[in-house]
Amino acid sequence: MVSSLSRKRNYHYQNNPLTAGKYNREPITTMPMTSIINDSYKIHFGEECYTQINTYIAEKQPSIIFVLVDENTMEHCYARFISRIETHAEIEIIEIDAGEEHKNIDTCTGVWSALIELGCDRNSLFISLGGGVVTDLGGFVASTIKRGIDFIHVPTSLLAMVDAAVGGKNGVDLGHLKNQIGVIHPPVMTLVDPAFLQTLPQQQLRNGSIEMFKHGLIADRIYWENMIDLQFDFDNSAFESLIYQSIIIKNDVVLSDPFERGARKSLNYGHTVGHAIESYCMSSDNHAELLHGEAVAAGIIVESYLSKLHTGLTDEDFKQINKFYQSLNLSLSFSNDDVEAIIGLMSHDKKNVNGEVRFVLLPSIGNYKTDCVVDIEEITDGFKLYLQ
Ligand code: GLY
Repeated sequence: MVSSLSRKRNYHYQNNPLTAGKYNREPITTMPMTSIINDSYKIHFGEECYTQINTYIAEKQPSIIFVLVDENTMEHCYARFISRIETHAEIEIIEIDAGEEHKNIDTCTGVWSALIELGCDRNSLFISLGGGVVTDLGGFVASTIKRGIDFIHVPTSLLAMVDAAVGGKNGVDLGHLKNQIGVIHPPVMTLVDPAFLQTLPQQQLRNGSIEMFKHGLIADRIYWENMIDLQFDFDNSAFESLIYQSIIIKNDVVLSDPFERGARKSLNYGHTVGHAIESYCMSSDNHAELLHGEAVAAGIIVESYLSKLHTGLTDEDFKQINKFYQSLNLSLSFSNDDVEAIIGLMSHDKKNVNGEVRFVLLPSIGNYKTDCVVDIEEITDGFKLYLQ
């Protein structure tokens, strides 16, 4: 299936994707950042987040409010968040260890047990305050305890703001295999307060921005170009608007296909290879500090090569994508044996059908095609290109 998400959108750029030639770019700072509506919940932005959560708490009158944090968000984000919350309800903090290696059922068991010990009931409210690990795991715990209690995501990393906390996917890893256990269940609301990003190092912002670039690649060439123009200047006044637009793209995709039967698979561009790289690095103790964005960036190089072979991505587009990702100077290097093992791990990808690895590929920047089958040798060649 080939489709152009930008054709369905009518809220920002004045572009006409049916017309070949130069897109007419609008200044990106002028877009009003109003709340974004999903089917059953809203994503609020900036100070509006606190108005909305306080109204919700006043109406719901939760018995207890649980706030899930890790040690980083406890230190850097909790004070800002809680100082804006108006409630007389009891607040209990549950802290987990930071890092992907803790996104597993053992950590869930600890959080489930803490909730029960602290008196969680069906009228409790659960808030995940953190990056992708905290929101993914927190959403899963809250969706399953007592068959589900209300939860709110408060993403504090860029990756969680533009991806993990949008779209209702919650879950954990199984051993070294990413996101194998989970549910699709929406939060009551997601609160995106970009002020939390000021607590993050540059490397973490780059990590999250890789998903923003990906949103441009699958859905919107102008957005992709605007992201390149940003040149990783996260102090630029356009940055908040680009975050907002990225969430709109992700939300549009999810709305069109909440349970990943078709269009939502496009969000996995770069992830078939990227997740296998992450699983491999987690299991081999190599690259222990590997960030998700780095693995996905490597995956995008390989999958763009496959797009050139299979879906007609032009040499010009391919070179632009490859040049951009190679300029990130990713430090990942793999031997032939590593590459073989990584390709083996792709057999666990959730998009596979009948044991066959299915890729999302690009016919052009801004369009995607799902369920593409490729030869193993072609994947190996893609890695060679990445590693050269
Ligand atoms: N992160 C991919 C998705 O939400 O579908």
